[in-house]
Amino acid sequence: MLEFKNVTFKYDEDETDMLENLSFDVNEGEFISIIGRSGCGKSTVFRLINGLLTPQKGEILFDGQNIKSMRNYSAYMPQKDLLFPWRTIEKNISLAMEIQKKSKAEIKKQAEEMLKEVGLWEYKDKYPKDLSGGMRQRASFARTLLSGSSLFLLDEPFSALDSLTKISLQEWLLTEWEKHKKTVLFITHDVEEAIFLSEKIYVVSDFPITHFEEFKIPLPYPRKREDMKRSDIVELKEMLIKNLRQEAVL
Ligand SMILES: Nc1ncnc2c1ncn2[C@@H]1O[C@H](COP(=O)(O)OP(=O)(O)OP(=O)(O)O)[C@@H](O)[C@H]1O
Ligand SMILES: [Mg+2]
Repeated sequence: MLEFKNVTFKYDEDETDMLENLSFDVNEGEFISIIGRSGCGKSTVFRLINGLLTPQKGEILFDGQNIKSMRNYSAYMPQKDLLFPWRTIEKNISLAMEIQKKSKAEIKKQAEEMLKEVGLWEYKDKYPKDLSGGMRQRASFARTLLSGSSLFLLDEPFSALDSLTKISLQEWLLTEWEKHKKTVLFITHDVEEAIFLSEKIYVVSDFPITHFEEFKIPLPYPRKREDMKRSDIVELKEMLIKNLRQEAVL
């Protein structure tokens, strides 16, 4: 579905490349997490995918087509929600549909279904400031789902939440993913979160980024918390943490 082919990228003001000849694939319906030390270029990869940045060399393809000529193929959800404070929750999640010029009746119907699905129906007339952090992230996710894109770029969406809210949102996200069959790329600093959620983890282990180290998670879906205690999973987690810490020292 998504293909990086020998992508090289450098920020104008930098001397060295951030990405060098990076190639990787993402298949339709996959849930992949990307982990790597702070500042290694993870969000930059997302900005290249959504076309906010353009590579100096190489190609980025979506369903075999260069993304240069495409729009609305991916939806980006950052750590801090991008809900508009002056719009109600219902109006916030309806935004993409308004831009797509859907009819008022259609927008209302889809917004209602989605608000019920994410458990925010009673909050539809509230403003973002009236919601908890977890609720705001659910509202952001509802908006992302209604954008009509099939590739979701989630950039540390749960990192600002307390640990209990985070755990319930992780489970909630997996249920939504299994239901909607979207393709998810998920950036996180939290190795346990990456293991619990993903089918595969891409580790950024070099600079400039020339490749991702790939780890498959040997757990079936639906995921269970108890599985995180399995000895092979604990070992994998320790190995990934060690790997990331070594890089942090360099
Ligand atoms: N617009 C920009 N212009 C120049 N350099 C930038 C720009 N945005 C980011 N950088 C630099 O590029 C590097 C990678 O940034 P990026 O945001 O991709 O890292 P990251 O892996 O997402 O980090 P974090 O885990 O802290 O979010 C950083 O050193 C950053 O300072
Ligand atoms: Mg980042």
